[in-house]
Amino acid sequence: MARSQCQDLPPAFDMVILGASGFTGKYVVREALKFLNAPSSPLSSLALAGRRPAKLTRALQWAAYPGPPPSGIAILTADITDPESLRRLCSQTKLILDCVGPFRLYGEPVVAACVETGCDYLDICGEPEFMERMEAKYHEKAVETGSLVISACGFDSIPAELGFTFNSRQWAEPAVVNRVEAYLSLESNKRIVGNFGTFESAVLGVANVDKLQELRRSRPRRSRPTIPGPPPPKGPTIENQKKVGLWAVKLPSADSVIVRRTLSILTDNPHGLPGGEEGPQQCEKRRAFWSTVKPAHFGMKIGFKSLLGLLRVITVGIFIDVLGRTATGRRLLLKFPSFFSLGWFKKQGPAEEEVRSASFQMLFIAQGYSNAEVAMARNAKPDTEIVTRVTGPEIGYLSTPIILVQCGLILLRQRGDLPKGGTFPPGIVFGPTDLEEQLQKNGILFDVISRSSLPVE
Ligand SMILES: NC(=O)c1ccc[n+]([C@@H]2O[C@H](COP(=O)([O-])OP(=O)(O)OC[C@H]3O[C@@H](n4cnc5c(N)ncnc54)[C@H](OP(=O)(O)O)[C@@H]3O)[C@@H](O)[C@H]2O)c1
Repeated sequence: MARSQCQDLPPAFDMVILGASGFTGKYVVREALKFLNAPSSPLSSLALAGRRPAKLTRALQWAAYPGPPPSGIAILTADITDPESLRRLCSQTKLILDCVGPFRLYGEPVVAACVETGCDYLDICGEPEFMERMEAKYHEKAVETGSLVISACGFDSIPAELGFTFNSRQWAEPAVVNRVEAYLSLESNKRIVGNFGTFESAVLGVANVDKLQELRRSRPRRSRPTIPGPPPPKGPTIENQKKVGLWAVKLPSADSVIVRRTLSILTDNPHGLPGGEEGPQQCEKRRAFWSTVKPAHFGMKIGFKSLLGLLRVITVGIFIDVLGRTATGRRLLLKFPSFFSLGWFKKQGPAEEEVRSASFQMLFIAQGYSNAEVAMARNAKPDTEIVTRVTGPEIGYLSTPIILVQCGLILLRQRGDLPKGGTFPPGIVFGPTDLEEQLQKNGILFDVISRSSLPVE
């Protein structure tokens, strides 16, 4: 692990969870405890960090319940507004799992401290403006110091990234994929509720749309992959997807942006990103993996069994989109999250039984051609469809901690197989590792639903 030259001592901790006292943070602690000193786990030392030690201690007690907290877990004080405290924190650990959001408000000082000290950084951000700004500002320095900075290691956007590659890898030659549309549906026999932190991040996202466009205009154009066949038609705003029994609308999440970033890096690096200290076997594995991933157009939709469910989400989207653009509107949204989200977000977050009874399903409906030559014909219509699925428990506080912790464990176990440093989307880094296998073992499942021929007139 690369460290800055001023630090002589090896880091005291394998992993620090920053923001462990937050609603999501405490669930991340609970997940991490399952692997602390477990057989064959690379996690043997853990610390929790944040600005209020007493609250962190309570989070640890909550996470360890019904048992007592394991001994030896350090509670470290670090405040986002105090860069020195963050540098001190980073110099004590190999890896920070950052759960302090909204990231556009609180994320940058943590990235800056990690990059400066050569510490690795993973977060659960779902905010494209923050991720792209960090890439623009810190990528080169991170390469230099050997700090690996990977955002979106939660429900945003690993199910989309790995779900896309999983589907893409089902297209055995000579078949080629053209488009993959993912349909997210959330299920529960209780209410589906999210915590205020995620609502605030979404509201601030709308407020910063112009900044994101400006940032993109100021950056070199990203490489685009060559995708066989013509681009898919735009389609209706509201889709009645009869095949899977869902009413669906485009989901303005970070997922499609992140999948496209991974595909763009893959276009520039067709064999993926070499590990800083990877051996010939891993090199072979990485090259073999990426040779089976084919680029495709990608979109993400949210789906509901009833049109009413869909109209509810559209109403919330309109509230956030319209009110999120002005300071007064944002104040209103953030003061009354439950009202403006029609009960989906609450200041105090979901109750434990609401978390436990929820689950998600992401269906990937991919269309392409049985043969690459068919795709070359003018206005070629796809003749083949492959449907795959990713399923898992509740998205924000069960799936996100599972995913983040598994990414962290891979980083600890296989650091030399991963790029030495830089800021990257998760798919391009974790694709060729055993992340998918580890997620399967921990309740996030990938499977193939169907392969079929499509009628072509
Ligand atoms: N990727 C995903 O799918 C996913 C899922 C869930 C959440 N998230 C994201 O995770 C973020 C957190 O959400 P949440 O609901 O957990 O929010 P939250 O409950 O408000 O937690 C925020 C955390 O940040 C800490 N914090 C705030 N200001 C700080 C400062 N100056 N110095 C140090 N720590 C500070 C808080 O500490 P105190 O306890 O001391 O206030 C708390 O630990 C949001 O951006 C959300 O969108 C993403």
